[in-house]
Amino acid sequence: MSLLIIDEVSKNYANRVKALERISFHVTEGQCVGIVGESGSGKSTLAQLILGLEQYKNGKILLNGEQIPPKKRSQVRQYRKSVQMIFQDSTSTLNPKLPIWKSLIEPLDNFKEITPSYLSGDLSRKEIAMLLLEMVGLEKQMADRYPSELSGGQKQRVSIARAISIEPSLLICDEPTASLDVTVQVQILELLKELQRKTNMSILFISHDIRAVTFLCDKMIVLKGGSIVDEFSLEELYSKKRDSYTKALIKAAAID
Ligand SMILES: Nc1ncnc2c1ncn2[C@@H]1O[C@H](COP(=O)(O)OP(=O)(O)OP(=O)(O)O)[C@@H](O)[C@H]1O
Ligand SMILES: [Mg+2]
Repeated sequence: MSLLIIDEVSKNYANRVKALERISFHVTEGQCVGIVGESGSGKSTLAQLILGLEQYKNGKILLNGEQIPPKKRSQVRQYRKSVQMIFQDSTSTLNPKLPIWKSLIEPLDNFKEITPSYLSGDLSRKEIAMLLLEMVGLEKQMADRYPSELSGGQKQRVSIARAISIEPSLLICDEPTASLDVTVQVQILELLKELQRKTNMSILFISHDIRAVTFLCDKMIVLKGGSIVDEFSLEELYSKKRDSYTKALIKAAAID
């Protein structure tokens, strides 16, 4: 079943920039879809529309059959629970004045009605945060540290833990590894892959790096100048049918 449906969506900014032009695609439950394209192709705009941070006039976005952004207040809460986001720079996600366990527990505090499947027994809020740290491969002793005392890769793991804590059905990642060095990039991608397998959440993974996208995603969408120029499953990566722009991206990434 389709979790997310993007149907003929266009976005023009007030400055008349046409950021997206009649974009359509689906994300099914448990699927990992990569959005790849050069700078300015509209990738982040797409994420902003799905998150309801930017408005669109033309087309439709549906999550679990409900229009996004939701019209009824009762649906807004459900929508906020269902979609979580990871940004390139997790510094903005973590409050610099709080030990990380307090930032980690915030989503669960906001959605007290959620009982995540990974919890069993009676744990304190701090113990839950420690469990989340372990789920993303960090030591639980890190709970008391402040964001400034973590490396970029560790901070990104914390923001992943925070995002998955409420078990969203869709996780949107916008260039989550772009500011990390190559070995840490691979570790973060492996972590996302493992979490995706365990939780069966869907992931929309945005990147200019086709190599990262092919590592993680089952389906790929190539954006150029606000339009989809190619869409294919991983097995079709090297097919002759690929758009010339996709072929150029594959060649530039030296994965041909
Ligand atoms: N708030 C805004 N107001 C006006 N124009 C914008 C705004 N945000 C983005 N744009 C423009 O819309 C187009 C798409 O931008 P977007 O940020 O979606 O690209 P991107 O693919 O995420 O690029 P990058 O890889 O550099 O992050 C660009 O031409 C950009 O200048
Ligand atoms: Mg962007």
